[in-house]
Amino acid sequence: MSARSLSVGGLHLAAEGHLLVQGVSFTLRRGRVLGLVGTSGSGKSLTTLALLDLLPPGVRQVAGMVALDNAPVERAALRGRTVGLVQQAPRGGFNPLVTIGRHFLETLACEGVRGAAARDRMQDLLRDVGFGEPGAITRLYPSQLSGGMLQRVMLALALCRDPDFLLADEPTTDLDLIVQAQLLDLLERLVVRRGLGLLLVTHDFSVIARLADQVVVMDAGRVIEQQPVHGIFEDPAHPRTQALLSAHLALYA
Ligand SMILES: Nc1ncnc2c1ncn2[C@@H]1O[C@H](COP(=O)(O)OP(=O)(O)OP(=O)(O)O)[C@@H](O)[C@H]1O
Ligand SMILES: [Mg+2]
Repeated sequence: MSARSLSVGGLHLAAEGHLLVQGVSFTLRRGRVLGLVGTSGSGKSLTTLALLDLLPPGVRQVAGMVALDNAPVERAALRGRTVGLVQQAPRGGFNPLVTIGRHFLETLACEGVRGAAARDRMQDLLRDVGFGEPGAITRLYPSQLSGGMLQRVMLALALCRDPDFLLADEPTTDLDLIVQAQLLDLLERLVVRRGLGLLLVTHDFSVIARLADQVVVMDAGRVIEQQPVHGIFEDPAHPRTQALLSAHLALYA
């Protein structure tokens, strides 16, 4: 049976002797969306990468644990089937020497899907993430795609494995509003119908309002507030949360 929750507890990350992330704890649940917000540089991406033991060189974990259904786990073993990842700047996640199509066929082969079935699934997933003509994309190399296109391809690749949980770091930031709305609909369907547990890292409070159930706010490497989404909008407790929210309202009200 698949796990119902994925938690991180007491996460501390450091580089060159100083702490970048201090004591971060939260729990993702299947069928729920946890929004992770905070100023630029507050530690959202490093926290996300630490969940899968994918920290960049020079950053190390000094304390903390990751658990599935409250049982500590080997984090590298979670990658793929249990936990999918959409990185914020995904170029490094691709092999520059092979086409987008080959990335899909290799990922699907890990799931035992090959031949015509694999090609059909690849095309369906690419359509799901907003590529009207998937055939054209599959022949290209990663260097020939824009940042927003790569991010959508990475989401489609993560979904190939049908993960229980998805960590999505700014998955809609570089996209036009039409594709953005399509991706949010797709993520919502996966959460509601397939019980995906989603960690949604974003600067965009409209995305939070649309999808999140629970919201974690980070500032300077710490969690400063965590509460259900209506509480964040109606009664934000921390001054930094209030500032982030007012900045959003000033732009969009
Ligand atoms: N490879 C690295 N080596 C050293 N410090 C790093 C490294 N990557 C990030 N940092 C530092 O860690 C802190 C948190 O970075 P992180 O990328 O997690 O922020 P973020 O909240 O995702 O920001 P953004 O909203 O801009 O994406 C920042 O101060 C950053 O300078
Ligand atoms: Mg980031």
